[in-house]
Amino acid sequence: MDREETLVCGLMVKDPIDKLLDDATSGKSLFKNREVLHFTFMPELVLHRDDEQKKVTQALIPLLKKARPSNLLVYGKPGTGKTLVVKKVLNKIQEKVKDGSFPIQLLYANAKEETTLYGLLIKLGRQLIEKGREKEFPTTGLSISEVFNRIVSAIEKNGLNTVFVIDEIDYLAELVSKTGKDVFYSLTRANERLKKGSLTLIGISNDLTFKERLDPRVLSSLSEEEIVFTNYTVNQIKEILTERIKEAFIPNVLDPAALNLCAAMSGQEHGDARRAIDLLRVAGEIAEREQSDMIKEDHIRRASLKMEEDKETTALTSYPLHEKLLILAVMKANGNSTGEIYQSYKSLCKTTRQKDLTQRRVTQMLSEIEMTGLISGKIVHQGMHGRTKKFALTLNPDTVKKAFKEDLVLEDLL
Ligand SMILES: Nc1ncnc2c1ncn2[C@@H]1O[C@H](COP(=O)(O)OP(=O)(O)OP(=O)(O)O)[C@@H](O)[C@H]1O
Ligand SMILES: [Mg+2]
Repeated sequence: MDREETLVCGLMVKDPIDKLLDDATSGKSLFKNREVLHFTFMPELVLHRDDEQKKVTQALIPLLKKARPSNLLVYGKPGTGKTLVVKKVLNKIQEKVKDGSFPIQLLYANAKEETTLYGLLIKLGRQLIEKGREKEFPTTGLSISEVFNRIVSAIEKNGLNTVFVIDEIDYLAELVSKTGKDVFYSLTRANERLKKGSLTLIGISNDLTFKERLDPRVLSSLSEEEIVFTNYTVNQIKEILTERIKEAFIPNVLDPAALNLCAAMSGQEHGDARRAIDLLRVAGEIAEREQSDMIKEDHIRRASLKMEEDKETTALTSYPLHEKLLILAVMKANGNSTGEIYQSYKSLCKTTRQKDLTQRRVTQMLSEIEMTGLISGKIVHQGMHGRTKKFALTLNPDTVKKAFKEDLVLEDLL
């Protein structure tokens, strides 16, 4: 008798954990190299971005001629290859100039990954100095302007010609608005302060409204040059996927119909290569978990649903407590007016022994949550009683319950 099997009521039963582990080790994997589908992977071949690669390279060519390039703003919808292309160009330039006499330093930071402006500047500053001297850019304690002064001195000291790439720069605009410091202005004009060396700023953004929110002085400086990344077509996405598949999966496990569906689903809106690659990875995982020997259309569809649900869950769990209570209030008083939702919210506060917020604040919070699409609002005219706004949940109540169940305060409400 197999040691892992036990006789229960006359039936041979295999331990469920052992079964899963055995299937995972003995079952064949559909993946050849999962890493290839991870968002940090840099593919050798960058398809359909020749123009963009040329433009970004051209913008930085002055560096090779020992001159300062113009500041540059790179734009385009999510998943159109902006980060990939800019990083590839930086790598190639760095490779080319590594032994040159003209000191060039290319720095990269993603503003979305930083929670504070201070953190972002420290991250950039540390890339300017030699290893072991990180203390010059401590993780706390300096004023923003002092960090900035230190960045300028580090550049001057070695006469560095620097390029600061700030990816997702729209988040920097947010960090700046929180601290009220005009770092944008200082960064874009830093060059004028430098006695030696230079600083070029490359901003990357997928938020097309971001420009309108900038101070005109900053904008004119930052967008000395602009490069727009166009959207991929469904066919281009399909070709990008076809390349990736060769390295990611063992041969012939992807049903051609599934590939078409994946490209179509990601190409529909604006041709988002990231979404396409993510869909493929999740579909592959679902198919593998089921021990299926092929990835089929149905796996792609289910992957899409799962990703949608995961996105909603992440959004829900990251809300502070009162927003969560309010979402539950909308759920309980689904389709009701703001006033009724407020009553429902107050009663939830009472049950959970939380001090309730004012109706004015709650109304404001409702609008904020509405912007994320988790709830939807509709103005309803009520004749002589004027008008009111009614709110309803746009997602499955079970998703909300699952997302909030970890929160101890909410446990009893679910
Ligand atoms: N032309 C391409 N060839 C191969 N892979 C690509 C191509 N374009 C994008 N990708 C892949 O798609 C994913 C998204 O690309 P990237 O991160 O560059 O998008 P992005 O424009 O920076 O998006 P966001 O604005 O959301 O940051 C990455 O995994 C990248 O490797
Ligand atoms: Mg990017």
